[in-house]
Amino acid sequence: MSSGVIVYKTKSEIEQQRESSLLVGKTLAEVASHLKPGITTLQLDTIAEQFIRDHQAEPSFKGYHGYKHSLCISVNEEVVHGIPGSRVIMDGDVVSIDCGVFKNGFHGDSAYTFPIGVVSEEVLNLLRVTKTSLMQGIAKARNGNRVGDISAAVQEYAESFGYGVVRELVGHGVGRNLHEKPEVPNYGKRSSGPVLKEGMVIAIEPMINMGPRHIRQLKDGWTVITLDRLPSAHFEHTVAITDSMPDVLSSFQEIEIAITKNKNITEVISTIV
Ligand code: MF3
Ligand code: CO
Repeated sequence: MSSGVIVYKTKSEIEQQRESSLLVGKTLAEVASHLKPGITTLQLDTIAEQFIRDHQAEPSFKGYHGYKHSLCISVNEEVVHGIPGSRVIMDGDVVSIDCGVFKNGFHGDSAYTFPIGVVSEEVLNLLRVTKTSLMQGIAKARNGNRVGDISAAVQEYAESFGYGVVRELVGHGVGRNLHEKPEVPNYGKRSSGPVLKEGMVIAIEPMINMGPRHIRQLKDGWTVITLDRLPSAHFEHTVAITDSMPDVLSSFQEIEIAITKNKNITEVISTIV
């Protein structure tokens, strides 16, 4: 699926994909409005699937390599690919929610990490740094740069705080397929890797650990957790390369409005937007 060549999108295709990507943000905002201690991750998944289908779209993840849900919900030490189920959200959890939608023939892919109730300043800082590392990576998503410029920007920023940058999972091209070329690692060297060109659409998605970068996968075949079981955070945007500035197709705007209205969630302020 992520094999093959880089597929470039026309301006009108990018507008189609913007619609899919914006719907991801709206879906995550709908989920965020229901986030509170006591709700199960399966209930959140059901809300997301209904919302996506109500908007004439399909959940990208459902059916992907046999995955059975619309969201990946990864709590605390879970890094990514947490499977919705009977787990109950608790006060003090950090909940990363990843969502993809397919509409107009294109996928949008975005993720946000929510601190529920009272979360330590130390953990809030992990969330802020992860979100800001995504913004640092996005700033390099420009025609003529290379993938390694994004990777190095994310890595250098996150590691400057002593955090571990997960290497086994990477960002990716996104379009008519959820995972296309190129791979977009969150670590690497400046001026290395594929050249970024107008028409490329990529998902940039740093996964940053409070402790060392090492991870393992649970026997369920999906859930990735930190080896030391310290918390991890994940933020993701779908971004188009243009002839000038990076064009972020997904949006956190509705999510953040939902957060300000939900007393159970603390706001994650990034130092840059
Ligand atoms: N959303 C993940 C990504 O960002 C992919 C999820 S895998 C799935 O690439 F099976 F859940 F779809
Ligand atoms: Co992705």
